[in-house]
Formats: sequence, C-alpha cells, structure tokens
Amino acid sequence: MSARLAVVGSINMDLVVRAPRLPRLGETILGSDFRTFPGGKGANQAVAIARMGGKVSMIGRVGQDGFGDALLETLERDQVDLTYIRRDPEAASGVALITVEEGGNNAIVVVPGANGRLSPEDIWGAEEAIKQAQVLVLQLECPLETVAEAICVAQRHAVPVALNPAPAQPLPDELLRQIDVLIPNESELQLLSGKQEVEQAAQALLARGVKTLIITLGEQGSLVVQRMERSAIPAHPVKAVDTTAAGDAFVGAFAVAWAEGKSLIEAARWGNAAGALAVTRLGAQPSLPTRQEVMGLL
Ligand code: RIB
Repeated sequence: MSARLAVVGSINMDLVVRAPRLPRLGETILGSDFRTFPGGKGANQAVAIARMGGKVSMIGRVGQDGFGDALLETLERDQVDLTYIRRDPEAASGVALITVEEGGNNAIVVVPGANGRLSPEDIWGAEEAIKQAQVLVLQLECPLETVAEAICVAQRHAVPVALNPAPAQPLPDELLRQIDVLIPNESELQLLSGKQEVEQAAQALLARGVKTLIITLGEQGSLVVQRMERSAIPAHPVKAVDTTAAGDAFVGAFAVAWAEGKSLIEAARWGNAAGALAVTRLGAQPSLPTRQEVMGLL
C-alpha cells in the first residue's frame, strides 16, 4: 500500500529566464529564453512525493487568478489531493522570479502572495490530512506561526515531521525540538546555527534539540547526522542544466522512503538520486523524477 503524507507549504508560478550568467547589481544583461513553470517549494515537494508513489495531501493557498487555476490543474494531473488548498479572493497566487545561469545555478526572488496568508486556522481545517499522514513535510515559504501550528497538530497525532528550512530564517529552539528530521542545505545550515563549518553547525543544531539532520551538499551528496552517528551519502555525478527544485526532489523522495519504513540512510540515498535527476532538466515541477527513474539510477 502507498505511504500517505501531507505537505504544508507554498504554491508558486515560476517565471524563469535563462542567461549566460547572473547580472551584477545595477547591471542589465540579455537572456536567451523565458518560460513559466509550476513551482513553489511546498507544491514541488508534494509533486515529488506523488511521483515517488506516495499519496499526498497539499495544504496551501492560491489566488483566484489564472496562475492559481494553472497551478491547481498541474497538481491535480500529478494526483496530489487538493482538498485542503484554499482559493484566496484577496491575494494573488505566489510567484517566483528565477534566473538560471549557464552552469545551472540560479537566483530566486519569491513574492509569497496567497502563500503568505496561509493561517493556523487553515491548518486546523486540514487536521484530518495531517492525522492520517505517516510523515508531515514542511518548508518556510509560509508564515512561521502557521508552520509552528502544523507541527503542533502533527505532534498531537504522533506524526513524524520533516522540515526543509528554506528559505532559511532563525528558528526558536522550541520549534527545533519538535522536528524529527531537519533537511537544510549548507547555507541554510550556516544561517540556522550561526556557524560556518558543517560539523560544528550540525553539532550546534543537535544540541538545540533537532533529532536528525540531513544536510544536502549538492555535488558532494548528503550527510546524515545524529548525536552518535554520521554517514556521508555520495552524489550521482550528472551534468547540471538547472538546479531549481533539486532540494525539493530530495525532500520528496526522502520523505516517501522514510514513510515506507526505510532507514534514514536508505531514504537519503533515494533523495540523492532524485535530486541528481532533477538537476538534469529545466524547471521546477517538470524536472521532478518518477519512482521508476529514481530506482533506475539507484
Ligand atoms: O525550490 C525551488 C522553488 O523555490 C521554486 O519552484 C520557486 O517557486 C521557489 O519557491
């Protein structure tokens, strides 16, 4: 039987330009291509879960606009449960302005719109979906008080929580203590811990109450860190086209494997493979791999 998961998070339309390099401050450069893709860290992770074979409910908000219609349509096509997505009459759907340079790296500005109005009441309205989940997945593109409320609901029903702290912001210890698995990249890890070096940063967060850290390191793979253990999971070498949503692919694949009862290390291997496949393709949701593709790479 498929694992059941819930995702609380953002749903954005990504407006993507490709350019030879990222512009400097005050500079205008010519790009080569403009495309729109469905994105948003929350929605990307929900789609990643669905393509990995998980049953997933998405809890979020979009505006009552054309982007909102398109975003819901693509989520539905991926069989994401839309019951807990609200149409907000007072805010536009979230958008992300993304520049992708030749090497596949990007710079992103997100305007949250309706995502910024996802409320603690919305979370209580979706209690059933969280209660039934084997894992609750969160990021930080929605208000922190809403994220905190979702974690409380998960705790109330003994549902394990995976938090991808992106975009990074300082988090209170009380919240960190409630996280089962925290999945930052290197820069998020540094911001959260106030330390530059990976090992020291990881130890600082464990000391503040995080149970397990899985640090995604791009071309270096990932690192699973617990109090008494650490394991380095090697990357799959690939040619990067666009790194957008590679972290989301990792989180989604990891969460499905973990919900299915795989070990943290095995689940991180799934995450690495999914992230590697995602960077070989352009766009956020279009780049997310299927379970078959991930198994093929593994
Ligand atoms: O993680 C990638 C995502 O970040 C993009 O899809 C964009 O919408 C931003 O939320």
